[in-house]
Amino acid sequence: MSDGSSFYVTTPIFYVNDVPHIGHAYTEVAADVLARWHRQAGDDTWFLTGTDEHGQKILRTATANGVTPKEWADRLVETAWQPLLKTIDISNDDFIRTTDERHEVNVQLFLQRLFDAGYIYTGEYEGYYCVGCEEYKADSDLVDGTGEYAGQKVCAIHSKPVELLKERNYFFKMSEFSQRLLDLYDENPNFIQPESVRNEIVSFVRRGLTDLSISRQTFDWGVKVPWDESHVVYVWFDALLNYITAAGYGYDDEAFARRWPATHIVGKDIARFHAVIWPAMLMAAGLEVPKQVFGHGWLLVGGEKMSKSKLTGIAPNQITDTFGSDAFRYYFMRAINFGQDGSFSWEDLSARYQAELANGFGNLASRVIAMVTRYFDGVVPDAGVLDAPDQAIRDTEVRVTAAADDAISRLAIHEAIAQVWQLVDELNGYITLQEPWALSKDPANRERLGTVLNTAVRGIGTLAVLLSPVIPEASSKLWTALNGAGAVSDQPIRSAFDWAGGTTVSALEPLFPRIESSESDGSAA
Ligand code: MSP
Repeated sequence: MSDGSSFYVTTPIFYVNDVPHIGHAYTEVAADVLARWHRQAGDDTWFLTGTDEHGQKILRTATANGVTPKEWADRLVETAWQPLLKTIDISNDDFIRTTDERHEVNVQLFLQRLFDAGYIYTGEYEGYYCVGCEEYKADSDLVDGTGEYAGQKVCAIHSKPVELLKERNYFFKMSEFSQRLLDLYDENPNFIQPESVRNEIVSFVRRGLTDLSISRQTFDWGVKVPWDESHVVYVWFDALLNYITAAGYGYDDEAFARRWPATHIVGKDIARFHAVIWPAMLMAAGLEVPKQVFGHGWLLVGGEKMSKSKLTGIAPNQITDTFGSDAFRYYFMRAINFGQDGSFSWEDLSARYQAELANGFGNLASRVIAMVTRYFDGVVPDAGVLDAPDQAIRDTEVRVTAAADDAISRLAIHEAIAQVWQLVDELNGYITLQEPWALSKDPANRERLGTVLNTAVRGIGTLAVLLSPVIPEASSKLWTALNGAGAVSDQPIRSAFDWAGGTTVSALEPLFPRIESSESDGSAA
């Protein structure tokens, strides 16, 4: 599949009312692993992330803090959201803010086109609105409040009261697209994944869509409706358009044609916006629908969706300060089946760090490098005749490379890592059985020792290439110690086993250093 095909991947753009927590970082890392993998495969890759800055939620937070919404957004982007990308080693190609001019101008262009095509009309709306979700809620989305909200109806996601709003707004004729959307889901079963999210959305649309209120008149923090500046565009309608305004829509046709359509990675709670409203908007504008919408699961703390509003939020650097960004990335991608919910626990993180990263992979790499240094003065020995166990390792390299690539094409990131880890485990077993330290004692075994260490070096080099999208820092250190040619992140991943390295190895610093237990249980973080 190394055909240089286009791979445009996006994360949701994040609300800047608050600082990021590990749920946001989780989405970022998943999209980043996919982007890095495709880039390394030679695909024409583009990775977009950014921030969602308009709407009532941001306006209220800014007002409560005594600053303008733009000042608030600037502060949060600069001090929290941009730094997050460094904290977890994100390789985005672009960062869009909905207050960017390229965005605002082309949101207006898009809206005007829909208006001119007759898809927009004025109407009256009355309903319950959740500012946390920035969405009107159906009765079925509400539950009885508890504690201070007892006796009131609250949003099932935020557990906060909803507000009754009655307004004259502009409406988008979304109801006209029900059948076309159902046809799309039917013809392209992969359009929405995983299956659980797809099923929920298909049955939602089968019940029939209503038109969508797409403007607000009671506040002015948003993009102005071009033909009626007393309205601002509804924040979700504005936000969804980031995926095309960042890609050149309205100002760079060539870039747009090259990038669009995208694969959208989103949390399952917002999959409906992406798999219903968004394609309907694009259909109305005569544009291609996204390639795919993948709704991943939630990080749970104490069995509930982790969130700042429920005070269960954990900041990403609480983890990375102790364990490093590679461990953060590995843990969340490995421990949780992508597409399902997963419970976060410090104990599980610590245990996997120690068993899988430090003992499994880190030790393997350092032992192999140390043995080549000790027994061959750092010169990588040639392989002699291959015995069955040596050939088995080479076969595994080829097999897991293909299997991991296949898993990535299905967005099964956890499965891709599990495949690669078979090589880690097999190499550890191989070294235990071949006992190079025993072979080294008898000069008659010199050639056999060379074959074993050559096989082991080839294996850890393959691991460096395959793991670079997941643990870029450790892979790069290992690559340097192997004197690999160029940057590890440039090595063609679909033929990882064919990597070319130097003839010598150099010292390797510990990839996953020991963490004192008082720090690893989270109490020191
Ligand atoms: N601004 C909108 C998205 C607009 S996209 C055109 C938004 N922002 S958000 O900041 O609230 O959430 C962004 C993403 O973080 C969502 O995909 C959401 O599912 C994800 N997560 C928030 N909490 C999460 C967990 N506890 N676990 C996993 N992901 C979580 O929605």
